[in-house]
Order: sequence, then structure tokens, then C-alpha cells
Amino acid sequence: MKDYHLGFTDSGEPVSWISMMNDHLMATGVSGSGKSFLLKSLAIQSQRLGELIVVLDYTGDWTGAFCQQDCNALALNFRYLNVRFSGFSFNPLWPQRLPSGYYETPSDVGNRVAGGLQRGFHLHTAQRTHLANLICELCCNWGAPLSLPGLIDYAGHKKNVRQYEAPIARLIQLVNTVYCGPEPTMLDLSTPGILVLDLNDIREPDLQIVVAELLLDSMWSLRDTGHGATPVNFILDEAHRLSFQEGGAIHRLLREGRKFGYSVWMATQYMTNKEMAGAVGMADLQAIFRPPTEQIHSSAVKLAGGRKEIVCEVEDALMKLNRGQFIFQDNEGHLRRVTVR
Ligand SMILES: Nc1ncnc2c1ncn2[C@@H]1O[C@H](COP(=O)(O)OP(=O)(O)O)[C@@H](O)[C@H]1O
Ligand SMILES: [Mg+2]
Repeated sequence: MKDYHLGFTDSGEPVSWISMMNDHLMATGVSGSGKSFLLKSLAIQSQRLGELIVVLDYTGDWTGAFCQQDCNALALNFRYLNVRFSGFSFNPLWPQRLPSGYYETPSDVGNRVAGGLQRGFHLHTAQRTHLANLICELCCNWGAPLSLPGLIDYAGHKKNVRQYEAPIARLIQLVNTVYCGPEPTMLDLSTPGILVLDLNDIREPDLQIVVAELLLDSMWSLRDTGHGATPVNFILDEAHRLSFQEGGAIHRLLREGRKFGYSVWMATQYMTNKEMAGAVGMADLQAIFRPPTEQIHSSAVKLAGGRKEIVCEVEDALMKLNRGQFIFQDNEGHLRRVTVR
């Protein structure tokens, strides 16, 4: 059970988040309402507790979040990696270790990678199957380099090359955006600190989803169940850009992450679909910052949780939220307003 300081009540009492169900968090609210500020405050506390925070940064907002002065003053171990450059290496085709201790088979690798690409790029089932088979074939072919550029090259030499055209075109886009070398993914999740993965150069929404899926997948395989393993909190700011599909990487982290000391802290301006709303409903802490005006009523109904008599009161409270303030339901079921500080 973790205990993070969130801020203060109106009367100046400190408010903590003592997670009960899991350590996942969702902050919602309009742009500028204070969601990222809360996540940054939690990230600093988290590293002090000996945890690792991995930020998937699609906006560049986190890249300069902590200046050298902050890092010195707060004793932050801040690491920054731009996924475009070879200082970062990422290889989704590298077989992952499974919880059983065995490694993925070539067909597991094919299904995992093709699944990630399907979710982001909306591949047809047939395209996904062809791609999974092609990856499987490459993994069994000891002479071929096991990397995404190697896969593209391998597909080009196939007789039935047309069958792979659509997914391969997308893979070319991927390798042109993120450095996908032949080495295994070099991320190290064992040292506490704040690790920002700069994905700001990825402009295309589908590609953002694919990279998040594949990156979270490779980090999933680094899970360490050993005693004393560093807990990892993934920060997914602007989470409406990602996929919450069942079977996808985020859904799996939300459902099973706790066993491995993984949690997900998300912030979004809005819910993209029912899948996203359902998935984030699994988060222990739902921090409701100022919603857009047209969502005040629905947010109030949700927060009131069947207590119709308080809906108007909650609407009023939501409307009055200032920057840096949110409402959440505490472990006793009471609604509380917090000013993040
Ligand atoms: N609790 C707070 N105290 C002081 N400044 C805050 C607070 N919350 C947000 N801010 C400031 O307000 C601006 C917008 O906040 P931010 O967290 O980036 O909003 P969001 O992520 O919801 O778009 C930032 O400049 C941030 O530093
Ligand atoms: Mg933000």
C-alpha cells in the first residue's frame, strides 16, 4: 500500500492517496486545469520512495519539466531519451521472457508484434495474420537480422511480396521515426528515477499508438518479480492519444500490473470511447479537475454515484474548481476537494 501526498483541503488539512484497489490513477479535466502539475508532484515523491517513473512524452511537456537546478535541489535522477536517436535502441522482435521463465516462441513474437501494429494501424485480420507469419518465419531464420529493418528487407525478397505491402509500408514509417536497432531494447527498469522517453517527433496519431504499444510491451517483459524489485509507475499524459483496447498493452498493465509492481498514471482532457472509459474506471484514484462545461452534468452524476440529491451540489463544486484543484472520492466514499500543493 502506497501513500502519496496530493495537496490540501480548503481548511488546510493535508490529503494523501493511500491506494486500496491498485496504484493506478486517472486525472481528467480541461487543458490547463492542473493535471500534469499533479503528475509531476507525484513523480518527484515517487522517486523519493525508491520508485522508477517512466514517462511517455508526446508533447515535449516533460522534457524540460525539471531543470538542472530542480534535479540538484530535489536529488532527482532524471534521464531523458529521444527515441529517434541511436542512444536509444528498441527492438520489438526480441523474444520476451514470460512469467513462466521461458522465452517467447517465434509465433508468440509474431502475434505480439502484429497485434500491436493491428491496434494502431487498423490492419485487417488477414494482414495481421500474414505479418505474424512473416515475423515467425524471420525469427526461425538464423541467417536474417532480427530487427524491424531486417523484417522489411526480408519481406522485399518474398515471392508474394504484395501480400505484405500495407503492413510493410507502415513499418517503414515506424523505423523512419523511431530508432529500431538489432540490439535488445536497452531500457533498464531497475534503478529508481524519472525516465522521460521523448516521443514528441511522432506526429501521426496511429503511429503514436503503435509506438506506445510496442514500448510498453517491451517494458512489460522486463518485469522483475524478485524481492526488492523497483516499482515502476508509467506516466501516460495526454492518454486520449493511446489505445485502451482489451488485449492491448495499457489494458494489460491496468489489469495485471500490480502483480509486478507496475502502475499507470494517466491524464486526459476527454475519453475517446467506451473502452477507454471502462479501462480507466479501473484506476483506484480518479482525480476530476475542471471538466469542459458540457460535461459538468455527466461528471457530477458519475461522482454522485446514485445519490441524486447531491448532483446539483456536485455540479456547483465542479464549476467552481480553479486551476490546480480537483475532486475525488476518498476511501470512505466522501467527495473531497483538493488543492494540489
Ligand atoms: N496546483 C498548482 N499550483 C501552481 N501552479 C499550477 C498548479 N496546477 C497547475 N499549475 C500551473 O498551471 C499551468 C497548467 O497546468 P498543467 O498541469 O500543465 O495543466 P494540464 O496538464 O491540465 O493541461 C502550468 O503552468 C502549471 O505550472
Ligand atoms: Mg498536461
